[in-house]
Amino acid sequence: MFVGLDLGTSSVKGILMTEGQQVIGSASAPLTVSRPHPGWSEQDPEDWWRASLAVLDALAAAHPAEICAVEGIGLSGQMHGATVLDGADRPLRPAILWNDTRSAAECVALETAFPDIRRITGNVVMPGFTAPKLIWLARHEPDVFRRVEKVLLPKDFIRLRLTGEHVSDMSDAAGTCWLDVGRRAWSDQALEHCGLSRRQMPRLVEGGEVSGTLLPSVAARYGMTRTVAIAGGGGDNAAAACGIGAVRPGDAFLSLGTSGVLFAPTARFAPNTEAGVHAFCHAVPNMWCQMGVILAATDSLRWLSDLFGIDAPQLTDALGDRLGGPGEAMFLPYLGGERTPHNQADLRGAFVGLGHATDRGALTRAVMEGVAFAFRDCLRVLADAGTEIPRAWAVGGGSQSRLWLKIIATVLDRPLDLPAGGELGAAFGAARLALCAVRQADTSSVCTPPPVAATIAPDREWTAAYDDAYGRYRRLYPALKEFAQ
Ligand code: XUL
Repeated sequence: MFVGLDLGTSSVKGILMTEGQQVIGSASAPLTVSRPHPGWSEQDPEDWWRASLAVLDALAAAHPAEICAVEGIGLSGQMHGATVLDGADRPLRPAILWNDTRSAAECVALETAFPDIRRITGNVVMPGFTAPKLIWLARHEPDVFRRVEKVLLPKDFIRLRLTGEHVSDMSDAAGTCWLDVGRRAWSDQALEHCGLSRRQMPRLVEGGEVSGTLLPSVAARYGMTRTVAIAGGGGDNAAAACGIGAVRPGDAFLSLGTSGVLFAPTARFAPNTEAGVHAFCHAVPNMWCQMGVILAATDSLRWLSDLFGIDAPQLTDALGDRLGGPGEAMFLPYLGGERTPHNQADLRGAFVGLGHATDRGALTRAVMEGVAFAFRDCLRVLADAGTEIPRAWAVGGGSQSRLWLKIIATVLDRPLDLPAGGELGAAFGAARLALCAVRQADTSSVCTPPPVAATIAPDREWTAAYDDAYGRYRRLYPALKEFAQ
């Protein structure tokens, strides 16, 4: 029996999986984000641990016999968050999360002081990543910074509580801007430029390797009788890739979640830093990945639905599922800045083309199309980085909307495949990595793709019209860029 635990931003989710990869139970516990200042986004690591225990408690309550037979736990989690600990492994302050944009000035400072950082880490230094957050800490909370004994990523704090050990995996470590991503090892130079050293970093393992064993105190709480191995696991996107079987070049998935991600495995380290492509290690050995990340995907629709005071599914359902071609109104989804392709934290979104006839439905359609255009930007810059994506799996909460998927498939001019079967997300990918670690199985033979439930094909009647609309979308960015400065 295997457990996959995914520490998300809005909840911790856990699944219980059999040796044959059947998911027999799942549970989740909510998390809240604190935003004490504009652009800040924080969580208390103790809340992560409480929620993780609540999830394990719920799985144990529903499956008392199976939980005792657990042999491995795999971890997945929101990437990039800076969790700073003192010498007794206590959090020194709330963790600074992936969607926190306070450290824009520190990104510039780090890139200026160490221009080689893009080549080594494969990424432009962005405020979402971990390194600039630590420089911010050194500048703004020097007393805290001086006491930092260890810096962990969110899921690795859960690992610490499970095993007593400081360990991370390659895919998550790659999002710190301290990893030499091509060599899969910490970069002493990158660390030094942030006033840190290797001593403050966790040990590194691959996603499907054993990182430690469950502490007897935790095992006793659940009556787990065997030695329980904790697998390296992965950052949530790499773990989701393991869940959907996107582990070979040519595979890809598009995640329509709070943030939007276009993810493609690559056989080598292949950065395109200019266009804000994220080049990270995959959670499987000798594989890397490229990602385009847009910060507000379903979050844009949630924002609109909050304004209208109705649920997002109600907004999209009201449009039916017939594709009517691009609307007159256009939306640029930069509510909290953007990563790919603009890398601009102070960028803000816009509605344009509004008229007397623009109603709630037209604004909803504009938001869905704006997110689709942002994905097309990602597709374009991944292609510039050498990765062609002929088709992709569609995952994430927003993929419940057929209309949204039709719009995206047509804007990208690529078919999108919907997976059959229930639990295929990051928690499932993490459980698969636990299976690999315990059985020493090859990750690519365990992380196979699910059957296709449905394919959403591009609607050729509208591809040319959406091409034109995408051209208009791109021409609006320079004005927004200037507006922000
Ligand atoms: C990826 C990223 C997000 C978080 C959210 O770079 O920042 O996808 O991992 O969970």
